[in-house]
Amino acid sequence: MAGATASGEQGWSSRTAFILAAVGAAVGLGNIWRFPTLAGENGGGAFVLVYIAFVVLLGLPLVLSEILLGRTGGSDAIGSMRNVAEQSGRSKRWGALGALQITAGFLILSFYSVVAGWVINYVFISGGDFFGALFAGDPFSVAFNGETQDQITGRMGDLFADPMRLIILHVLFMAATVGIVASGVHDGIEKAAKWLMPAFFVLLIIITIYGAFTGNFAEAVAFMFTPDFSKITPIVLNEALGQALFSLSLAAGGLLTYGAYVSKDVNLAPTAGLIALADTSVAILAGLMIFPIVFAVGLDPAGGPALIFQTLPVAFNVMPGGALVGMVFFILIFFAALTSSISLLEGPTAWTMDRFGWGRKKAALIVGMVAWLIGVACALGYNMWSDVRLLGFWNIFAETDILDTLDGFTGKIMLPLGALFVAIFVGWRADANVVKAQSGLSGGMFILWRFLVAWAAPVAVSLVLIFGLLPGLLGE
Ligand code: TRP
Repeated sequence: MAGATASGEQGWSSRTAFILAAVGAAVGLGNIWRFPTLAGENGGGAFVLVYIAFVVLLGLPLVLSEILLGRTGGSDAIGSMRNVAEQSGRSKRWGALGALQITAGFLILSFYSVVAGWVINYVFISGGDFFGALFAGDPFSVAFNGETQDQITGRMGDLFADPMRLIILHVLFMAATVGIVASGVHDGIEKAAKWLMPAFFVLLIIITIYGAFTGNFAEAVAFMFTPDFSKITPIVLNEALGQALFSLSLAAGGLLTYGAYVSKDVNLAPTAGLIALADTSVAILAGLMIFPIVFAVGLDPAGGPALIFQTLPVAFNVMPGGALVGMVFFILIFFAALTSSISLLEGPTAWTMDRFGWGRKKAALIVGMVAWLIGVACALGYNMWSDVRLLGFWNIFAETDILDTLDGFTGKIMLPLGALFVAIFVGWRADANVVKAQSGLSGGMFILWRFLVAWAAPVAVSLVLIFGLLPGLLGE
């Protein structure tokens, strides 16, 4: 039997469907855009090591915790938290944790859609480029044949300087997201994941093999797996923690909401393990796909947010078959982004349906429109509002544009806080018997998981928050 929520939602049709949807939620721009960007900026190996440690020690236990809370609560993120708290004899005010998560997911959605719009832009321009080459009788042409490096990287600047174009692309992506979520858990989200995720994996493997043969694989491996411990600062720890949470779709209402649609007979622990494993493998593979290409043409791995949009097209410009591979690469990212954005929209949508008694279509549309509006501000932050510093008083945000500020605020602050409270709730406040029965763990594994959730996660997240954020706030 499929799970059902308070709003009478039909749940996932099978365990596989849930896994595909959850892996789809996890694998997204976080893996292919954010992870390589952060790894590149933070010195490679050291960041990757800390990131993996956070995934294994905190991320995985919390994935299990959140799915478990969702399934036990059986409602939207806020309703589920209130239900589980009540069953455990705790205050229903724990619903606030659901609210924090839904707000984070909503804010992430708003800028996520803007970045996904850049991806669509590159699907268009690389598609046009490839078909141009194809019709000229040269399907294995390099990308952007005849253009200089400056012209190619300049395309990103042209896009950023064009608010109308940014906004229209952002409309397209948000409309696709709303369309899928409006079609329902079963007929929309599940179906999208069922088609897009397998396609994604095939494309990913093809490009990784291509990169390994044509790129500088050895240098990429050295860059990603040789840690320079002097690079590990509190800020790097904070970035890595935020990235681990972001990539696993934790602390922003995604898994809490998806968990409610999981039927009671699914064993959650191995399912959580599979999700974390798939997500982390894709992040590492994305690094192994991107960095060999970057090094092959002697470019800088610390390219920042434009890494995949400027650095890679330059690389495709000199690599055999670059036009075709470039187009495939951006289509792949688009698929990944879409299966993630639907999970971001589903959280606030499910809550809106339960809270206001709205139908799914209306809820998805209205939530999507409001998130879209906030995204418009992000888009304008690259041109008309490029001087705006939303949290300029705070060191770490003193130089960030609107999108980066939203990304940083959710990733460095809201997600760690959300994760902290999930850990405290599951570790200390929720009924231990219920938690144990639902987790599907027993014996030593249960004790280990419980220890990681009750002790390791709260202590580590608190330390990271204190040492990562306070110095910036105090102006040091
Ligand atoms: N995990 C996704 C990615 O890596 C982003 C995402 C989807 C997300 N759903 C989420 C992040 C929920 C936080 C919470 O691209």
